[in-house]
Amino acid sequence: MAGCKRIKKLTAELIPICDASALEERGKGVRFPVTAGGEEATGFVVRFSGLVRGYLNRCAHVPMELDWNEGDFFESSGLYLICATHGAVYAPETGRCEGGPCRGRSLRRIEITEKDNQVFWQPDEYVRPARA
Ligand code: FES
Repeated sequence: MAGCKRIKKLTAELIPICDASALEERGKGVRFPVTAGGEEATGFVVRFSGLVRGYLNRCAHVPMELDWNEGDFFESSGLYLICATHGAVYAPETGRCEGGPCRGRSLRRIEITEKDNQVFWQPDEYVRPARA
């Protein structure tokens, strides 16, 4: 049984999101459809400090999407992700809320892989592929 689990982990599903070149450092993000806890939702990816970071697009304050304008996740300095609704700011590296009404809470991370000039996400027990 343990062997089966190991094989399952090695063959984890990678779902394509976009070309790696679509994500500029601290630039616009790319959204992608998911289900989260069985509900339709979106995830998003942005590039920060060279790496692609992925999160569920759901504020830790009230479960609303962060981007007021589609794909705009960074605030004006480019140092934080921001929720457009009440201004919570999140550290792009960790998803931790650094200011605003949900201080100390975090965005839900989504596992991201960048390879062969493509960006992929990996489902987990809570964030699953969107229903067809
Ligand atoms: S819904 Fe995001 S800060 Fe309130």
